Amino acid sequence: MLGRMTGAVPSPAEQAVVQQRLCEWFKRYGRDLPWRHTRDPYAVLVSEVMLQQTQVDRVIPRWREWMERFPSLKMLAEASRGDVIRAWSGLGYNSRAVRLHELARVTVDRLEGVLPSSVEGLLGLPGIGRYTAGAVASFAFERPVSLVETNVRRVLGRVFWGQPETGVAETRAVQALADAVLPVIDSWTWNQALMDLGATICTASTPACLICPLREVCRAAPLMSTWPDERRRRLREAREQYAAAAPTREVPRRVLRGRAVAALAKLPSHVAIALDALGPHVRADYGPDHREWLAATLRALAADGLVYVEDGAEGLVARLP
Ligand code: ADE
Repeated sequence: MLGRMTGAVPSPAEQAVVQQRLCEWFKRYGRDLPWRHTRDPYAVLVSEVMLQQTQVDRVIPRWREWMERFPSLKMLAEASRGDVIRAWSGLGYNSRAVRLHELARVTVDRLEGVLPSSVEGLLGLPGIGRYTAGAVASFAFERPVSLVETNVRRVLGRVFWGQPETGVAETRAVQALADAVLPVIDSWTWNQALMDLGATICTASTPACLICPLREVCRAAPLMSTWPDERRRRLREAREQYAAAAPTREVPRRVLRGRAVAALAKLPSHVAIALDALGPHVRADYGPDHREWLAATLRALAADGLVYVEDGAEGLVARLP
C-alpha cells in the first residue's frame, strides 16, 4: 500500500497530465446541466444553493421553474417571504430559501442588485460560505479559484494522495492541494469536471476505475480494484444494522419541521391554520399530547423566519410569512 501522501504537492508534470485528461474527458462526457449554459451570477448562485442538499435530477426542473418565477435578484428581493418559501417547497431544508431571499434583499439594498465577482466580496453576503462564494466566482465570473466539496475532496484525495477516502477533517489540507493543482487556464472546466468525475465515475462506494480517464495516473487506482468488495460488505452491514433499528426509529426533527412548512405552503397566501388542523399533516400519530410540541416547533420555525404564528381566539394559528 502506498504511504499517506497528505500534504504533498504533486509535480508540475503530474498536475499537467491530470488536468489535460480530466478536462478532455469533461468536454466529451460532462453532464449537460442547464446552469452550465449561463454565466448569470444569480442563476449560478440559485443552482449552487439548490444543489447543496438536493440531487441534480431533482434540482434541474426546480431550477428552471425558479428562474422563470424569479428571473433576477431584484424580482426575488421584491417577492414576499411566503411566495419564496412556497416556490422552494419540496426541495427540503427550507431555511435555504429564507437565506437566499435575505441575500437578494441585502444585495439589492446595498449593492444595487449586483453580486460581487470575488470570493472575498461574495463572502461578505449573508448565508454564503467559502464553497458557494468560490462556485459563483468560478462558474459565473470564470475566476481562477479552487472549490472543495465532497466530490472534489474524494477525487483529489484519491488521484494525488492515493487515499480511497478523505474525511471532512482533512478539508484544509485538500483546499491547499486544490489551490496547488488549479489550472490557470480554464479553471471553470476543471472545477466542473472534478465534480462530474466524483458524481459519475469516482463515486464514494462503487468507483468505476475501469472507465476512468485518470486510471493510469491515479495513485489510488491500484488499491481500488480490491477495495469495492470490502466497502460493499461494510455498507451491507451498516444497512442491516439500520434495518434492525428501524421499527423504533424516530422521524428526525428536520423532517417534521419540513412537513409543517410543506403543509402551510399548500394554503392560500395569508390563510392561517390552527394547530390541531395542522398536526395530522406533520405526524400520523398527532393527538392532544402533541399540541405543546407542535406549538414549540412552529415557534422555532417562526424564529428562523419560515413561519408566522399568532395567538388567535382559539389558540395558536400558523401560516407562511
Ligand atoms: N454540485 C454543485 N455544483 C454543481 C455543478 N455546477 N454541477 C453539478 N453538480 C454540482
